[in-house]
Amino acid sequence: MCSVVNFNINGYHYKLPIIYGTFYEKAINISQLRENTGFITFDPGFKNTGITKSSISFIDGEKGVLLYRGYPIEQIINKCSFIETSYLILNGELPNTAQLKSFSEKIKKFNSIHKEINQILDKIPNFYHPMGILSSLTYILDIFINCLQEEDMYLHLLAKLPMLAALTYRKKVGLPPSHADDHLDYISNLLKMFFSIPNKSYEQNPIISDALNKILILHADHEQNCSTTTVRLLGSAHTGLFSSISAGMSALWGRLHGGANQAVIEMLETILKNGGNITKWIEKAKNKKDPFRLMGFGHRIYKNFDPRARIAKKVAENLIKKLRISDPILELAKNLEEKALQDSYFIEKKLYPNIDFYSGIIYQSIGIPKDMFTVMFALGRLPGWMAHWKEMKLNRDPIGRPRQIYIGYKKRNIKN
Ligand code: CMC
Repeated sequence: MCSVVNFNINGYHYKLPIIYGTFYEKAINISQLRENTGFITFDPGFKNTGITKSSISFIDGEKGVLLYRGYPIEQIINKCSFIETSYLILNGELPNTAQLKSFSEKIKKFNSIHKEINQILDKIPNFYHPMGILSSLTYILDIFINCLQEEDMYLHLLAKLPMLAALTYRKKVGLPPSHADDHLDYISNLLKMFFSIPNKSYEQNPIISDALNKILILHADHEQNCSTTTVRLLGSAHTGLFSSISAGMSALWGRLHGGANQAVIEMLETILKNGGNITKWIEKAKNKKDPFRLMGFGHRIYKNFDPRARIAKKVAENLIKKLRISDPILELAKNLEEKALQDSYFIEKKLYPNIDFYSGIIYQSIGIPKDMFTVMFALGRLPGWMAHWKEMKLNRDPIGRPRQIYIGYKKRNIKN
């Protein structure tokens, strides 16, 4: 394997070192490029730019592989709970029984929300999008929480984010605030905080908790996606964890990123309402003059099946079958997927369904409203965001500060 690349610019010869990853992914280290040559690189959208070395998750987009800390997603989904996965992602190893018990109990210690947060939430109009509310409340949490130990910040967020999400949902649907139940595991507690009704005992449905557990695991980390990079970028300026995560949530909200889960269901409902003519909508997605894109299709890294989408599809089918509900949206999604995957446009551009194509169907079957889908994605992505913030600090990554090619006016004077 070569360790340098040689190249010539304007008759001068240069060498640039090559860096290899665990699976021999290769990068040209250009950190000294401008200093030595006067050139910078130009890469809008960071399509070819590595910003750090990381050991949290690995994706092989050509083969459709996803590993968390070395473990294939297909194994984690069948053998781990979301809270074990969170421990793994944050700490690097799966917990043993004692570690898991201690981790879960420590999270429960922070299972409460300051009354001022509830008062702030009360003042926010109901028509505000839950993602904006969650991001704002996470930012505000910073004012109330004074952590002496770094680990406590992670535990506070794991405890409080589901509470903020549940409170936001309940206010919207006119239910009074709920409290955490320390007797329950993480997922059961989350469901009870969302859906319990005053003066009625809340019955857990294992089919629903299993599906929620799985979909949160599927979201837990995905290396340098837009929101995670946002979290790292803020952290690199020594911005605090809560503010960095709040910014990550704002990035996730976008429809090309986590907001796609809401957009997918809205698209499927529109198709259904307009007669269900799949071919017409596929043609629309292919038409360059039409801004419409097939939401839940395509991915920057996966040029093969997104392994999370395969699992999410099975979880959705299983959930709907076991709950004995009939969902025309699932049938439409499956038909749309089949048709798109046979179309030369999607074949040539290697556009496959991504995680968000089926995740909304799962949330909807659980009873989560559309505008809360991306909030659920955020609950799942939380361990990944925190692990990257932590890793960025440990690596002592420099402040993120890209360059640009200026194409504005030359220097000019204001006329008298
Ligand atoms: N429908 C129709 N055409 C598409 C689609 C789509 N969903 N996705 C990409 N293309 C076309 C695109 O028009 C372009 O064509 P051309 O080369 O002729 O200009 C080509 O495929 C490459 O697309 P791109 O936009 O340059 O690729 P990207 O890597 O910059 O964007 C993406 C990736 C996910 C933003 C994009 O595929 C997309 O907009 N998908 C729909 C939104 C979506 O589902 N987002 C969720 C992503 S997965 C979960 C997450 O990360 O949160």
